[in-house]
Amino acid sequence: RTFLQGLGRATIVALVVGSGSFYYITQKDKNPGAQLPFDPEKKTIVVLGSGWGATSLLKTVDTADYNVVVISPKNFFLFTPLLPSVAVGTLTSRAILQPTRYVTRHKAREVTVIEAEAREVDPHKKTVTFTDDQGKSSKTIPYDYLIYAVGAEVQTFGTPGVQEKACFMKEIQDAEKMQKKVMECIETAAFPGQPAEEVERLLHMVVVGGGPTGIELSGEIHDFLEDDLKSWYPELAGKVRITLVEALPSVLPMFSKQLIDYTESTFKESKINIMTKTMVKEVKDKSVVLQMPDKSIAEIPCGIVVWAAGNKGRKITQDLMAKLPATQTNRRGISVDEHLRMSGTDGSIFAIGDCTSTSYAPTAQVASQQGAYLARILAQIAKKDALEAKLKNLQAKVNQVEDEVEAKGFVGEIETVKKQIDMVKLRPFHYSHQGSLAYIGSDKAIADLPFLNGNIASGGVATFLFWRSAYLSTLFSLRNRTLVANDWILTKLFGRDVSRD
Ligand code: FAD
Ligand code: NAI
Repeated sequence: RTFLQGLGRATIVALVVGSGSFYYITQKDKNPGAQLPFDPEKKTIVVLGSGWGATSLLKTVDTADYNVVVISPKNFFLFTPLLPSVAVGTLTSRAILQPTRYVTRHKAREVTVIEAEAREVDPHKKTVTFTDDQGKSSKTIPYDYLIYAVGAEVQTFGTPGVQEKACFMKEIQDAEKMQKKVMECIETAAFPGQPAEEVERLLHMVVVGGGPTGIELSGEIHDFLEDDLKSWYPELAGKVRITLVEALPSVLPMFSKQLIDYTESTFKESKINIMTKTMVKEVKDKSVVLQMPDKSIAEIPCGIVVWAAGNKGRKITQDLMAKLPATQTNRRGISVDEHLRMSGTDGSIFAIGDCTSTSYAPTAQVASQQGAYLARILAQIAKKDALEAKLKNLQAKVNQVEDEVEAKGFVGEIETVKKQIDMVKLRPFHYSHQGSLAYIGSDKAIADLPFLNGNIASGGVATFLFWRSAYLSTLFSLRNRTLVANDWILTKLFGRDVSRD
């Protein structure tokens, strides 16, 4: 009895302390304090983008050293790994968006956040030109350092019909559009008197691209069909088909053979049809045209096509590279040196994330590590700049003083400052791979974890919880963690929403 009473008291204390701390953190986050004003004496960093690279930099950068301006067409950060979950209604859109000001308002100095699309970077004049979302108002501003983190855009390879007829899985609007399109197909198929052939077409979902995006999306669609469609549309559930088309001989080329096999066998059990060595040649209103492994052409009817066939550089990136033709010759993206400085510039442009061509995969993990690294490098640069200014000042003083003893004192100080400058070493960027994780549906995930010295391919509660906890901990804020966890609980309790708005 005494033990139970003790346990009861401990639980109550833990609950009170837990909720008190939670409340304190949320209120601190909600009410940011006063910030230092813009300082004309400080150098200005202009950050292009509000994605993985830019947000990671903004979280870490010390604004005591710099004035910072952020320019991005989106005034928020999008947590891309959970985008496929929004596409099927497991999560709501807002749960994976974080307004950029929620980060910048907590910095020591005011950060200017401008919702606009950068149109041109002039690396010679050191200016950025941007326009508002209507494209009507345009402005050009100078920078001392430019952090170029605009990401990439969807690669269509010029395939006919893709841009107009397929859904993508890159931006939040893409996931929302896909969710609507899926429900449109389901409701149209449920309309009385539809010919069997038309029902079959409407309920055929084609995913193009067997990279991680295509795989995770197929897994999520499968869960939606299993968990929800069977309950609310029992007459249709058995008729839904998912086909994943991949041009290469296997899906997930970046994962090990063991993990590929596990994914393929899980998809087989889930009745997701994988077509490898098959290339989508055209997307039509009601079908996709495929080039089959034997090079013959087949046209298969379908209700929805989701294009997850990779990325390419944005136009602004291509234009910027074209201004430095001698050094920027890699078609995959911007070439950078070991400190992430854009090759061919005077060191004032740093490029990070998917817009670059490095030996690393274009992932969130790389972009966020690069952003955090740059923040540290910029702090080092600020330190060096301050020491160099001091040195210049001292050297000027030496030239001015006539008294020999006084001049000697300055010479000693000059030597100390020179040594301090020498000690400020800019370490090169080093990527630390934390592993790759992909959800494949049916509460199963695959993981390639270097710290466990191998690959894990497993299903069941443990893996599922690991996948979820890994993503929860990666989310940038307590607010988003709460929103995502809340949506997961609601989905578990009540299922996904199948209303068509
Ligand atoms: P982004 O995050 O794309 O950010 C680019 C930013 O630039 C955006 O804010 C954009 O609005 C802005 N921008 C665009 N044009 C301009 C302009 N002209 N001027 C100013 N700003 C501009 N990676 C992983 O490591 N793990 C995962 O699980 C994972 N899952 C993914 C799931 C999906 C569905 C997708 C699409 C990607 C996933 N990735 C994952 C890849 C990851 O999202 C990217 O590698 C990462 O977003 C790259 O970061 P970035 O900062 O370079 O670009
Ligand atoms: P991807 O480039 O990795 O895969 C695209 C696939 O589409 C390729 O395998 C390609 O062969 C195929 N393809 C291209 N054109 C085709 C066509 N016409 N017909 C059929 N197949 C075609 O792109 P993805 O999956 O969007 O990933 C982009 C980046 O984001 C990668 O670096 C990836 O690692 C990362 N990512 C990581 C995730 C994770 O770790 N869980 C999840 C999603 C993305």
